[in-house]
Amino acid sequence: MSERTQKILEGMTLEEKIYQLEQITTSTYLPECNRIDIVTGPDSALKLDKELIFEVGTSLNLVGAETMIQAHDYYMEHSKQKMPPLFMQDVIHGHRTLYPINLGVAASFDRGLAKDLAAMAAKEASLDGVSVTFAPMVDLVRDPRWGRVMESSGEDPYLNGEMARATVEGYQGDMGKYNVAACVKHFAAYGAAEAGRDYNTVDMSERTLREYYLPAYKSAVDAGVKMVMTAFNIVDGVPCVGNKHLVKEILRDEWGFDGVVISDYGAFDEMVIHGASEDQKDSARLAMEAGCDIEMMTSCYARYLKELVAEGKISEEQIDRSVLRILDLKETLGVLDNSYRSVNVEESKRVQLCPEHRALARKAAEESAVLLKNDGILPFCKDVNRVAVIGPLGATGKIHGSWHCGGRAEETVSVLDGMKALLGDKVSYAPGCPIEYDAEDTSMIDEACRLAAESDCVVLCLGEHQDYSGEGNCMTYIDLPEVQYQLLDRVLAVNKNVAVALFTGRPLAISRLDHTAPAILNMWMPGTEGGSACANLLFGEAVPSGKITMTFPRTLGQCPIYYNHYTTGRPKLEEDDLKRVLYTSSYIDSPNSPLYPFGYGLSYTDFEYTDHQLSGTAMTAEGTLTASVKVKNTGKYRAKEAVQFYIRDVKGSCVRPVKELKGFEKIELAPGEEKTVTFTITEPMLRYWTQNLTHRSEKGTFQVFIGKDSTCKPFAEFELV
Ligand code: BGC
Repeated sequence: MSERTQKILEGMTLEEKIYQLEQITTSTYLPECNRIDIVTGPDSALKLDKELIFEVGTSLNLVGAETMIQAHDYYMEHSKQKMPPLFMQDVIHGHRTLYPINLGVAASFDRGLAKDLAAMAAKEASLDGVSVTFAPMVDLVRDPRWGRVMESSGEDPYLNGEMARATVEGYQGDMGKYNVAACVKHFAAYGAAEAGRDYNTVDMSERTLREYYLPAYKSAVDAGVKMVMTAFNIVDGVPCVGNKHLVKEILRDEWGFDGVVISDYGAFDEMVIHGASEDQKDSARLAMEAGCDIEMMTSCYARYLKELVAEGKISEEQIDRSVLRILDLKETLGVLDNSYRSVNVEESKRVQLCPEHRALARKAAEESAVLLKNDGILPFCKDVNRVAVIGPLGATGKIHGSWHCGGRAEETVSVLDGMKALLGDKVSYAPGCPIEYDAEDTSMIDEACRLAAESDCVVLCLGEHQDYSGEGNCMTYIDLPEVQYQLLDRVLAVNKNVAVALFTGRPLAISRLDHTAPAILNMWMPGTEGGSACANLLFGEAVPSGKITMTFPRTLGQCPIYYNHYTTGRPKLEEDDLKRVLYTSSYIDSPNSPLYPFGYGLSYTDFEYTDHQLSGTAMTAEGTLTASVKVKNTGKYRAKEAVQFYIRDVKGSCVRPVKELKGFEKIELAPGEEKTVTFTITEPMLRYWTQNLTHRSEKGTFQVFIGKDSTCKPFAEFELV
């Protein structure tokens, strides 16, 4: 805390302090809403004191520099204190220029790229008046039914942590004019909702929580994230926003986080619905005791904190501490000196969607795409006479992804646009079938087949509607709809040269597609430049290098399925996976292995891994070992490769995962080029939450793996002595 903010605090009444802890929507302050006397819309239910509404500390949801200026001016004009508000927004995968959904960016295995993308989003957002983004979302995910897996970086705690750090660094930079404060979310374990149904119960052991779910939030905190958002769900029976163990004991006391904690939207009121608090007043008390500073879109603090202070249940010092955190953030962001901060209508227009931003978004879409299958037909040759783009996702901008902030479908390059830009008039389009998950209309297939028959190659754009993932969008069926398979089968009957461009916000259970389609390029939801990237990749102007960070199951019945699981006492051997072996941990009707494992993705070139080396066979706690491998590009294309490094702790006081990602490096090699990639092993890397829940390493044997994906085999062992 600074002297300046301390002084400001001292000049505030208790009511003014309490209103700093309130967050409502920005539109409340738009003059046309004429809200000085009446509060309407979602905010009306909050029953805020109309005298104090212009003393509210922060607001959410805002798009556009002009809107921010209007809201800001109206607020400042009517405010008594004239304490500048902070404008917050969900800038999730880009602001106006959208890059691929976060699950896609993670597939790039490129920390630098993730950082550059966040910095680009921060620049566009800050020029529009946004000071804080509600990102990164770092919830570990294992259930593809959950719509919000698209916002996550996947199933691995280490990779999630690396992406969290890179993203926080990108958004926050040195907190200059073009940066925004980041808010890591949703603390904690929101990604473990039972049955993949949003907001559902989360229940797990403290060990699993610490081992798998917490590390990525911790990485964001260690990277200096300014804010943390609590999750909607319960953990161990207590809603996160009022969960003292999570917020006070772990986040604040153990990790030393002294930034701002905010609730998720309406979560204070939901404590009552959960049955964890009696009423709004009780929610206010529980959340304050847990250590939550801001309530988003409720008025429990606003209406009841004063009473709680009068009754001696909450001390004014507790409130002061929360207010100071908020004032400090305002000071850090510079709004105490310039309440407009970085907003700039003209510059915003120049910067948003500028050629450099579009180029970076295209690069990101190219590096996020994952080649799931290729029977040798890709890349297509540009020197053809006719190309057919077919499918419900072929001519739409609605592939930029859910949580699109200021991005617009009409500014997004569709696959058809991208193909035309690359190949000109050779390209024609037919929709083939509708996109809805329950669509049955097959009447457009004939026309699509006519086009396919007279074309040299077909780009078949299948997948899911972008609104089928994101918050509240969960699915119980994650294969393609039958009508899309019918379209594929009938197109294949007239033209074998078919590559499927797959658009999805989640891993899909597409065994049938894998069986039928000659090639599958998973584009995820690729953002503003998705269509250009898709054309470049399919026609060899760019080479796929993405690798999935969330397992694709063969069938939904295998879920949750993830690579870093424990072994059972009766594991089924990998070589037996396709057989039925009674009394092993297995299924009668499905192998155990997934369709595509964590870390998997193909290229147009081949990479050969040779000369695996481990520098020793024993290591002390103070020492290090190095593990290395030679990677050679033995194919015809210059390409990138994500080299992955895993360790297995063979025996512990608690069982350890069958392998754990401990490092990765993305390299680029020309044809014939070779490079040695080296990873350093240190003792902290080997620590885990042991039987008595202390975080330490245990002596014994460790196996070492380096390879293309999570199915790689151990090549050496060492002892920790
Ligand atoms: C979501 C958050 C988001 C917030 C504000 C909530 O419904 O869970 O992720 O930041 O809304 O838009």
